[in-house]
Amino acid sequence: MNTIKIDPDRTLGTLDRNVFGGFAEHLGRCIYGGIYDEGSPLADAEGYRRDVIQAVKRLGMPIIRYPGGNFVSGYRWMDGIGPQDERPPRAELAWRTVESNRFGTDEFVRWCRLVGAEPYLAVNCGDGDMREARDWVEYCNGTTDTALVRLRRRNGSEQPHRVRYWGIGNEVDGPWQMGMKTPEEYARAFTEFGKMMKMVDPDIRLIASWTSGWFDDWVERGQLLLEQAPRLVDYMAIHWYVGNPDDDFGRYMALSELFEDRLTAAEGLINAMRVCRQLPRPVYLAVDEWNVWYRTRGDNRLEEVYNLEDALVVAMQLNAFIRHARSVKMANLAQVVNVIAPMMTWEDGLVLQTTFHPFEIYSRQAGSVALDAYWEGETFQGGDRVGVRVLDVSATLNPEEREVSVFVVNRSLEATEAEIVLQEGAWGGSGKSWVVTGPDIKATNTRENPEAVTAVERPVAASGARLRLTLEPHSVTALTLPLA
Ligand code: AHR
Repeated sequence: MNTIKIDPDRTLGTLDRNVFGGFAEHLGRCIYGGIYDEGSPLADAEGYRRDVIQAVKRLGMPIIRYPGGNFVSGYRWMDGIGPQDERPPRAELAWRTVESNRFGTDEFVRWCRLVGAEPYLAVNCGDGDMREARDWVEYCNGTTDTALVRLRRRNGSEQPHRVRYWGIGNEVDGPWQMGMKTPEEYARAFTEFGKMMKMVDPDIRLIASWTSGWFDDWVERGQLLLEQAPRLVDYMAIHWYVGNPDDDFGRYMALSELFEDRLTAAEGLINAMRVCRQLPRPVYLAVDEWNVWYRTRGDNRLEEVYNLEDALVVAMQLNAFIRHARSVKMANLAQVVNVIAPMMTWEDGLVLQTTFHPFEIYSRQAGSVALDAYWEGETFQGGDRVGVRVLDVSATLNPEEREVSVFVVNRSLEATEAEIVLQEGAWGGSGKSWVVTGPDIKATNTRENPEAVTAVERPVAASGARLRLTLEPHSVTALTLPLA
């Protein structure tokens, strides 16, 4: 028997909705043919795909990072503004293509407003300089009568874009990055870029590129950033991509332990620096690229087709963000459409991938307070991880509605019995459950069979303190129940 214990008073703190963020890069068909599809009958008059807008709205992403990714390290933002036919096509070195620049800052900000998301821009800290970075802040957010503000107005945006979130560089620790930086070089660059950008707009929030490769120097990188820029850095960005290259289900499912290790270590370093150096203000984690990505490494379209086991791993990552809600205040699913994405477009429509469904349910059902759920029960061995619990769990509270949501990944290939025990008070009657599963762990959603893996909604009711349930094999279950 597996037991999940929930105490609504045992809170971890506020769950920042920005953990349900997304990421869109000029890469493959994410922008062109995904978000923006000029001439398509499925696009609106401005060229935005209406079906993509609807699906992104369903995901409830409150923030979307743009324009890269590796792309940003060679990007000149000024190429992407002004009359579209006059914009210069450029050789794009990160993904070895030609960038038309028909989609740029103003198109992105307008699209964010259409999907209800805040724009989060990353500046070029690869082959770009701090002048370009500060000019971009001024172009977007400036209100005084300057040449850059006039330019924005001439380009159709009278009002400032009010972009609050700004990342400085992308994956600067990686040898694949244009303008890769040593820990010292990046700490200096972040400090000077950030200083100038905040001079233009003191209200912006800055995200530092911490680690993506998790190389031996990641602790040093974090420490130097926090030592040199404690008054500038708001978020420390970490990235990861995971996969199942050995086709080993157990090892894949045990990746929850890696997420725990990394988040615990990263927040531990920030805490250590807070105590040791008396950091003047809170610094949070932004997991501003995360996902499953392993099949399409090495190509430049990254059109990964996801199966059910990938959907379970997406849910496990969301569980980890909820369990670390005290420190993880932003996370961005990479990416939103076509490129390692929860949806894939075609000329005549769109398919929701398996991973779409857990993301939608978590984003919609999670309450504003993360709870410290305890659970015990059956275990398995995955790779070299022993004693891993078969269930992977997180829980939240919606204090206004007095509702608890419990998110459970059943990593067993069998149906699994579980009991959810409320440690204080009683359940208050009728609620709802959503189950994401499919015929087998390799099931995918295709154009021919778009609903092999979906979410099935069912009523659920509970009174008293205990709720018994049977979790379907290889499934994600979300339950939202009122408190009495
Ligand atoms: O999301 C795809 C790529 O993965 C991004 O461009 C880069 O930041 C990461 O390595």
